[in-house]
Amino acid sequence: MSEQKNVAKPKKAFVIGFPISHSKSPVIHNHWLASKQLSGKYEKIAVDPQDLKNFVTSFAQNGYRGGNVTIPHKEAVLEHVDVIHPTAKRLKAANTLWMEDGKIHADNTDGYGFLANIDQNKPDWDQNDPVKKALILGAGGASRPIIDGLLARGFEIAITNRTTARSDAIVDLFRGLGFEGRIYAIDWEERSNVLSDRSLLVNTTALGMTGQPELEIDLKDLPSNSLVTDIVYSPLKTDLLLQAEKQGNPIVDGLGMLLHQAVPGFEKWFGSRPEVTDHLRELVLSA
Ligand code: ATR
Repeated sequence: MSEQKNVAKPKKAFVIGFPISHSKSPVIHNHWLASKQLSGKYEKIAVDPQDLKNFVTSFAQNGYRGGNVTIPHKEAVLEHVDVIHPTAKRLKAANTLWMEDGKIHADNTDGYGFLANIDQNKPDWDQNDPVKKALILGAGGASRPIIDGLLARGFEIAITNRTTARSDAIVDLFRGLGFEGRIYAIDWEERSNVLSDRSLLVNTTALGMTGQPELEIDLKDLPSNSLVTDIVYSPLKTDLLLQAEKQGNPIVDGLGMLLHQAVPGFEKWFGSRPEVTDHLRELVLSA
């Protein structure tokens, strides 16, 4: 049998979820591939939860270098990988897989993406913040990596959620990780009343997203130099951001978090670190 010689196969990566049709990740990665003139492919693949193990344990044989993982697989995927990196281990959830030394590796880049977005748009924002106290609205899956990143940057965290059991669980999680004095929960009804000493306000709920109810909050007590950011990016300027901007507060929209969380994965699969540019923002917004 003749051996196939040096036929360069395009590098392939994926995003898996169920459903997956809404994912904008292919727009991001395929733009980076094209702009760097790399021969590669990034594909979205619907993987039924019952097929997750089979998909994860065989993607390398099927020619993939790795990929992104989204809802509902972020937690379950950890059962099927070989190496869980510390951030994914702390958060019990992964969004990025890659092959290294024949092993399947998993990590979570959402917290990195959250911070890198603010770092890019408001450089030195946390170095110039002597207060470092954040209020986090929401205790769903999106809140954990954000809190994890902010704790690592030295923030003290107040968290509030409509369902108290979920915010309490997050407080317990991070206290168990050694952040005893740095995180506590407050009642959802109190969210407008605890803003006077906060230097950062983050919405991690779905409220304010097109088709969802509005996020009701009164920002009048928030100091005017406190940063306000929202993970919702549809609309790009949510009512929360509009209200903050009207008061003169600095704001950062949520689109950049999606773009920046994609950077480490692209670098692992395709070997080149990509940039988050205004052009990419436009492309994703119009996709
Ligand atoms: P995830 O997949 O991130 O876990 P989720 O369960 O939909 O998503 O959670 C999204 C966040 O939006 C949660 O904090 C949720 O609050 P609950 O834990 O009380 O459900 C919040 N959220 C969604 N709809 C809400 C509403 N009408 N009022 C207040 N919070 C809401």
